[in-house]
Amino acid sequence: MEVKVVVGDIVNQQVDAILVNLFEGLERPGGATAAVDKALDGAISQLMADGEIKGKPNEVTVLHTLGKIPPKRVAVVGLGKQADFKLDRVRSVVAVACRELRNLGVKRAATIVHGAGAGGIGPEKASQVIAEGAVMGLYTFRRHITEKSESKEMQELLIVERDEAKVAELERGVQCGRVIAQATNMARDMINEPANYMTPSHMAEAARRLAGERGLEYTILEKDEMAQMGMGGLLGVAQGSQQPPKFIVLRYKGNSDSPKTLGLVGKGITFDSGGISIKPSESMGDMKGDMAGGAVVMAAIKAISELKLKLNVTGLIPATENLPSGTALKPGDVLRALNGKTIEIISTDAEGRLVLADALSYARKLELSPLVDVATLTGACHIALGDFCSGAFTNNQELVDKVIGAGKSAGEYIWQMPMYEEYKELNKSDVADIKNSGGRYGGAITAAQFLAEFSEDTPWVHLDIAGTARQESDRGHRVKGATGVMVATLVNLAQDLVAGGAPSKRE
Ligand code: BES
Ligand code: MN
Ligand code: ZN
Repeated sequence: MEVKVVVGDIVNQQVDAILVNLFEGLERPGGATAAVDKALDGAISQLMADGEIKGKPNEVTVLHTLGKIPPKRVAVVGLGKQADFKLDRVRSVVAVACRELRNLGVKRAATIVHGAGAGGIGPEKASQVIAEGAVMGLYTFRRHITEKSESKEMQELLIVERDEAKVAELERGVQCGRVIAQATNMARDMINEPANYMTPSHMAEAARRLAGERGLEYTILEKDEMAQMGMGGLLGVAQGSQQPPKFIVLRYKGNSDSPKTLGLVGKGITFDSGGISIKPSESMGDMKGDMAGGAVVMAAIKAISELKLKLNVTGLIPATENLPSGTALKPGDVLRALNGKTIEIISTDAEGRLVLADALSYARKLELSPLVDVATLTGACHIALGDFCSGAFTNNQELVDKVIGAGKSAGEYIWQMPMYEEYKELNKSDVADIKNSGGRYGGAITAAQFLAEFSEDTPWVHLDIAGTARQESDRGHRVKGATGVMVATLVNLAQDLVAGGAPSKRE
């Protein structure tokens, strides 16, 4: 779908449908909505008076224009109460409206800029969130459905602005929003892909393709190289699978003047059966998405390179399946990670931290700093924070504040979890330096404390997306299935690091 900025009047657009908005609690429509209302002989204000249009968040009301203006339909979208306005409201309602219009067969639509006046946001952010809402909200995953449904694709969304002076800023916003949304959709595609189509080799291939397209440097470490280097964690998890593991390294060099490189680490378990500590079969299929962290890191690097951000970023993705077999890792086994620390295996289902142990150690060897890892790491994090919020864990408060701020402007909630020393005790082993499970209680925190042994003194944030990487139903621009959550946050973080300094305060 294309998103374009045009100068003109929303009422006169030659499109199938137009989008106007309404804040909750207003007596009568204002601005462009008032102009459309007038052209429709008061149809919108009548529905408001009847209580059918309230302006509640995500409310979409579609009216027929009966030839009174060129577009056949008007969608009035609710922005909620003006006092509670935030950018994410726009992403969300634009997504809902676009899906509704798509269902009605609309191919071309036009929208006013939402929230720029009364909402108090600048043109650039305002158009960015429209593009994000539309492109992310219209996402579908139909690769394996034979029947094609091209007839129901929306082709174009015009952002209509009367003031020509704002066009350049609006276009910049659209460009940025499109890049972030398309990258998020790429991550979603990878995460939604069944595990037989997204093996470690497929992930490596996707990385190679991305590197080719974007002119990135890349290295794919093979099993023998992992063995030479001493990546015992990754090899231990991989030993139960017939699929060869891959350790993916992607490098974006956006600032040759800087010696610093941001390290992004993503968990790349392409299927997590639990291994010998096998999971219950119910919803085990969801574990095809256990490489979400890896996909998100690849997608963020794609976006960062498209936006040509002036910094260096290296992505590290340890990729393997976690399967039971005669050669599989067993509870009680001891592994040695890349940094030399030995790990007693309590549960082969706590595999994410094993592969991340090697990846974080490798990141330190490469002197990447700061480090951010993204992982569907623990069911415990999902239990603690529910479906709507990712968990953050850190050894550096300043960095986590930046990450949480970047999440805010991305519309991605992140909640910081505690890292009190007491939790570390739970990972103590009698037979090795550390064990890979600290038990049920505080499971997300003990997992993070485990990782902290491998990030050591490098400034580091761990993002646990076990509860947020996929969802059961559509929610605004986050559609059912893989969400691609944290792509936008990582891109914002990179932008903030370039801007150098204060964490992002935008919402
Ligand atoms: N990939 C899972 C975590 C997960 C669960 C992600 C549900 C998304 C949805 C992870 O590898 C895992 O199995 N974690 C265990 C750790 C435990 C054995 C210490 C868990 O959370 O139960
Ligand atoms: Mn597991
Ligand atoms: Zn896992």
